[in-house]
Amino acid sequence: MSEKKKQVQTMFDAIAVKYDFLNHFLSAGVDYYWRKKAIALTGFSKDAELLDLACGTGDFAYTVKKLGVTKIVGADLSMQMLKLFGAKFDWIKAQRVQTVAEWLPFLPGSFTNITVAFGVRNFYDIPKAFSEFHSVLKPNGKATVLEFCMPKNPLIASLYRFYFKNILPVVGRIVSGSNSAYTYLLDKEIDLVKLFREAGFQEVYRKNLTFGLVQVVIAKK
Ligand SMILES: C[S@@+](CC[C@H](N)C(=O)[O-])C[C@H]1O[C@@H](n2cnc3c(N)ncnc32)[C@H](O)[C@@H]1O
Repeated sequence: MSEKKKQVQTMFDAIAVKYDFLNHFLSAGVDYYWRKKAIALTGFSKDAELLDLACGTGDFAYTVKKLGVTKIVGADLSMQMLKLFGAKFDWIKAQRVQTVAEWLPFLPGSFTNITVAFGVRNFYDIPKAFSEFHSVLKPNGKATVLEFCMPKNPLIASLYRFYFKNILPVVGRIVSGSNSAYTYLLDKEIDLVKLFREAGFQEVYRKNLTFGLVQVVIAKK
């Protein structure tokens, strides 16, 4: 088991109960809009078969369910996050699976869509995860990733850096009691477009949201 995997699993198991509060509070609720926008940009049909990876407590799966999609699988490495998903959204009737993105226990071509909101940065091997995505997607299937990024505007970038380095970890530590919560979010830029291309995706589309604070990347198989 990789060291990063153990650390991430321990951290999310520890903060799971406080996760929703922290998430919505620290993003001032804008995270709801980001998920909705990512889903609108992807374009879901009602007969989609969705794998929501790093599903956490299920907010992305819930947003897709509201569109009328019925076949939803939520997967995450944290059992505590999956339990809360069940408690919150039992009525979604989503199958919940404890697994890592780097090893997906599904047959090739099982899904039309994969979504990951704020999960990729935590993966211990992103190229391996994206190659798993490619395998479990059907032809023309889409992987949609929502992730933080560094804004290009220097003023916004320095405010953003200050927030991520000085405010977020302190609030995260006070509320969750975890020293490592929210300390790692901006440790490096990740070129998602390049990584998707290297994993064999032909068409990759990227859009910045909210002054480039977050990015949506949609990769088509
Ligand atoms: C910041 S939360 C995001 C949860 C949810 N997608 C949301 O939008 O609120 C990140 C999630 O990724 C999960 N995770 C981290 N590394 C993972 C991996 N390698 N495979 C699967 N899940 C992972 C964590 O357990 C956690 O639930």
